[in-house]
Amino acid sequence: MIDLRSDTLTRPTDAMRAAMASAEVGDDVYGEDPTVRALEERVAELFGHEAALFTPTGSMANVLAVAALVVPGQEVLCEARAHIARAELGAHGAVSGLTMRTWSHPRGGLDLAVLEELFAPDLGPFFVRTAAISVENTHNFAGGTVLGLADLQALRAFADDRGAAVHLDGARIWNAHVATGTPLASYGAVADVLAVCLSKGLGAPVGSLLVGSAEQMDEARVRRKRLGGGMRQVGVLAAAGLHALEHHVARLAEDHEHARLLAEACGVDPATVDTNIVVHDVDDAVTFVKAAADAGVLLSAVGPRTVRMVTHLDVDRAAAQRAATVLAAL
Ligand SMILES: Cc1ncc(COP(=O)(O)O)c(C=O)c1O
Repeated sequence: MIDLRSDTLTRPTDAMRAAMASAEVGDDVYGEDPTVRALEERVAELFGHEAALFTPTGSMANVLAVAALVVPGQEVLCEARAHIARAELGAHGAVSGLTMRTWSHPRGGLDLAVLEELFAPDLGPFFVRTAAISVENTHNFAGGTVLGLADLQALRAFADDRGAAVHLDGARIWNAHVATGTPLASYGAVADVLAVCLSKGLGAPVGSLLVGSAEQMDEARVRRKRLGGGMRQVGVLAAAGLHALEHHVARLAEDHEHARLLAEACGVDPATVDTNIVVHDVDDAVTFVKAAADAGVLLSAVGPRTVRMVTHLDVDRAAAQRAATVLAAL
């Protein structure tokens, strides 16, 4: 089976397992795990922020990141297919007491004229006000699309003019970085708080981080504990993350090349595939997914007529080529 359902399906490599096995550990709830601290410092530095906080999942990192910017009774604006709106199962409302409104963009991007219409300024205590704008880069359900730095900088200026914050869901920010050459610190500079994942394209088994100011991270550490996300000798997992940052970032370019191969096989213009995700319209997604599985290729149905395929560390060039042959035949 060639598994293209998600880049979360990767298994730790032997070298990653060796790094995990030899990690120095301590109790991270006491702030005493040296490997977690090293990872947090490394990631904060990469994005040019003061501090970072390790979380078990990207969903928890997003919840803590948005909660750092929006208090109960305020709202966050995001794109309609954003992970925070579509796939975090209401956590932001349930846990943080905030509301969300969305805009739609065909490639998961931004249109400041639309945002201008949507933005709710502070009209006093009896109205919901927009406290933050959230963007996703790359955008998962839009097909791994990249938000350009110029758009993000324009968003930063837009938010600053209105006293709002910016959250960046960077679960796959590494893919955007490799696809465009944009420094991670430039992405860091446009956001008040970021959430980034080690367990997608980077191939770690577990782990995400939120990144922001030292004060925001101190508060988020308390909220993380409240959610049951205070972990103990978790340096074994942080070690996987440090290994991934060292060895698995530059190679994402291979995943992007493989995704373009798959796109071409499906009749999707490869020029529209920015990174490692291909979203493809078919007559009936469930039937298509089943036919592909019968031929040895696993895909996901992400809508009644939409399938998604994701390339990753465990799909080498030969596997991508075999999958392309199967998909072209279908
Ligand atoms: C864009 C985006 N943000 C956040 C997440 C959440 O990550 P996790 O599955 O670790 O909770 C995902 C998961 O796929 C994602 O694609």
